[in-house]
Amino acid sequence: MKNVLILGVNGFIGSSLAWKILKKTDWNVVGVDLSDGKIPHCLKSERFVFHRKNVVDDADFIDAEIRKCDVVVPLVAIATPSLYVKDPLRVFNLDFESNLLIVKKCVEYKKRIVFPSTSEVYGMCPDKDFDEYESNLVLGPVAKERWIYSCIKQMLDRVIWAYGKHEGLSFTLFRPFNFIGPKLDDIKAPKEGSSRVLTQFAHNIINGKPIKLVDGGLQKRAFTFIDDGVECLLKILENKNGCAEGRIFNIGNPYEEYSIKALADILIESFMEYPEYAERARSVKIENVSSKDYYGEGYQDVSRRMPSVKRAEDELGWKPSTNLRRAIKLTLDYHLLGKDYELETGGAQQ
Ligand code: UGA
Repeated sequence: MKNVLILGVNGFIGSSLAWKILKKTDWNVVGVDLSDGKIPHCLKSERFVFHRKNVVDDADFIDAEIRKCDVVVPLVAIATPSLYVKDPLRVFNLDFESNLLIVKKCVEYKKRIVFPSTSEVYGMCPDKDFDEYESNLVLGPVAKERWIYSCIKQMLDRVIWAYGKHEGLSFTLFRPFNFIGPKLDDIKAPKEGSSRVLTQFAHNIINGKPIKLVDGGLQKRAFTFIDDGVECLLKILENKNGCAEGRIFNIGNPYEEYSIKALADILIESFMEYPEYAERARSVKIENVSSKDYYGEGYQDVSRRMPSVKRAEDELGWKPSTNLRRAIKLTLDYHLLGKDYELETGGAQQ
């Protein structure tokens, strides 16, 4: 039995991970967040304790919670590219400074940390797929603010690695690759550029706005369904025979690589399956926009981002199994029909 502390439990990964833990293990979860809208089912569990707190404001509280738990999963961060460009210092304050304090607490109290690195650390790496121990991390110039997030995460990866190697910190670093799913961003809210691509496109279709392809939409991503992602995280937390100890894992779905243009086409086709939205999907306009106009001068894109998941497959015994169309269907079922796959038996698999 474990006591898992999830900071940012109401986020996309946090909410799904907490539910998966409660459903599949006998562990206890303490969750901290500013709000609880994504975790109503977790709140009903006797093994879940929720604290409505700001991780940044209440250092004494966080200190006490870290002391009490076995493993910390700190998921509080800004992870939206437009904000890297528009507000890089906010990204630095939250993603770097507040997380560094948490890492140091884990060192002090000898707690295991399972830390979210990011696919963004590989930047513009030219490798055909990105390997955790071999690939170079390739960032653009300082004047391209987009890279601040990648650089912050890389620095934290290096700090955690060094604490592990030189001061005995127990850790695993994981790198999510374009996780998608129902609770990614608020589909009703996004302003242009304020959420990740799938949410933005879905929002635009629902609201009769054109889909905008940045620089033609030829850039590619490998899309990973959240349920597959948190299955992998569960294996990391379980850490059977120390299989995840001191290791770095990409968590992605290399079998589901698509260009952003192809994503738009598949999403439009998927919308056609919902009679109420079919007409809006049929008539949606697709426009090209330059990255400079869409994000601003400080943006630079990643043209291809392909994970190698060989290490996660071999060392953790995990493999992603949900394809993009199925992931989109489960996401649209949630937003358009109010159906939550997490509450239904069978999970994401068909
Ligand atoms: C994102 C974020 O940096 C992180 O949340 C995370 O580490 C990473 O994904 C990940 O999940 O692996 P990115 O893939 O660039 O990075 O983010 P999206 O906003 O989802 O954009 C994907 C692509 O779609 C980009 O090339 C972007 O230019 C394009 N896009 C986005 C459009 O063509 N149109 C839009 O309206 C929005």
